[in-house]
Amino acid sequence: MKAMVIEKYGKDAPLVLKERPIPVLGEHDVLVEIHAASLNPIDSKIKAGKLKFLLSYTMPLILGNDFSGVVVEVGDKADRFKPGDEVYGRPRKNRIGTLAEYIAVHQDDISLKPTNLSFEEAASIPLVGLTVYQAFHDILKLQKEQKVLIHAGSGGVGTFAIQLANSMGAYVATTVSDKGYDLVKSLGADQIINYRKDNFEQMLEGYDAVLDTLGGDVLKKSFHVLKPGGKIVSISGLPNAQFGKEARLGWLKTTLLSIVSHKLTTYEKKTLTSYHFLFMKPSGAQLEKIKELMEKESIIPVIDQVFKFAETPRALEYLEGGRAKGKVVVSIK
Ligand SMILES: NC(=O)c1ccc[n+]([C@@H]2O[C@H](COP(=O)([O-])OP(=O)(O)OC[C@H]3O[C@@H](n4cnc5c(N)ncnc54)[C@H](OP(=O)(O)O)[C@@H]3O)[C@@H](O)[C@H]2O)c1
Repeated sequence: MKAMVIEKYGKDAPLVLKERPIPVLGEHDVLVEIHAASLNPIDSKIKAGKLKFLLSYTMPLILGNDFSGVVVEVGDKADRFKPGDEVYGRPRKNRIGTLAEYIAVHQDDISLKPTNLSFEEAASIPLVGLTVYQAFHDILKLQKEQKVLIHAGSGGVGTFAIQLANSMGAYVATTVSDKGYDLVKSLGADQIINYRKDNFEQMLEGYDAVLDTLGGDVLKKSFHVLKPGGKIVSISGLPNAQFGKEARLGWLKTTLLSIVSHKLTTYEKKTLTSYHFLFMKPSGAQLEKIKELMEKESIIPVIDQVFKFAETPRALEYLEGGRAKGKVVVSIK
């Protein structure tokens, strides 16, 4: 099969189209012929070797973290899908490689794809959809009429997050530049802050929750918009000791995390709020819930551009530019 492969880590290491063997099917796996995959900033971070602390891979490595496609074969103990099923998913972290013609994926990591979406649209959802679903349902436990600030509302995560928060009945503030204004307005954002002109931390207060997609100073300032008891979920800030324990990273890594995230712990104490770092997990069960939301059109896919398979290196460069409005998708079949 054809696949987009790196031979070594490096920001400038080439991403090249190569012949690779079709993956071997485990007993709980399904083999999927991939129709489309989406690109996510994690693809660049993995390629550059920035996530070696959390994820270790052997080379050559096929990149790609989510997909849609059609089941062509099922393992002996895979009983949830059959050949011909149209599915979408996010494989577990040690089995990535969706920028390829086929993937063998554990049946628990996929769901039938939303029936109203094309393969390109469906491929744009799994990674960002699961991230936001886990942030809002599992960590923030967002309630009707609560106020949530979503950073970078026009990005892949932000466009999904505004819609999910809306469908949960929350009041949504979001940060964008001029270029993202119309998009986030159309997705239902209640308060839109131009991050290039205004300081969100001076405009918002009494918030129940923040979804931080940016880390750094934006994360630090976000503590000030929360009311006591409020929560921040960051997907781009520093992992803390609590994350190290939950992810079973071991004593040494957990201690290191507690040291590097010390300032965040101080902010938590000062503002009587709580900080959570999220590293999203695959879940076919949650993708089924997201499928229902998509089929009701409570959430619609937002796609910036679709690239051809051979253009994947250019698509990744485009994503790395950091200006995408919604998702960048690669059409494979
Ligand atoms: N931990 C996890 O499990 C997890 C999961 C998913 C994503 N992530 C991380 O979350 C981050 C966001 O992912 P993404 O897919 O949404 O990225 P993305 O689609 O590449 O984000 C691009 C968008 O960010 C906006 N933006 C850039 N700087 C901004 C700022 N200072 N304030 C407000 N908006 C800003 C840009 O708008 P303008 O062009 O208008 O500035 C653009 O629309 C990445 O770092 C990714 O690695 C982590």
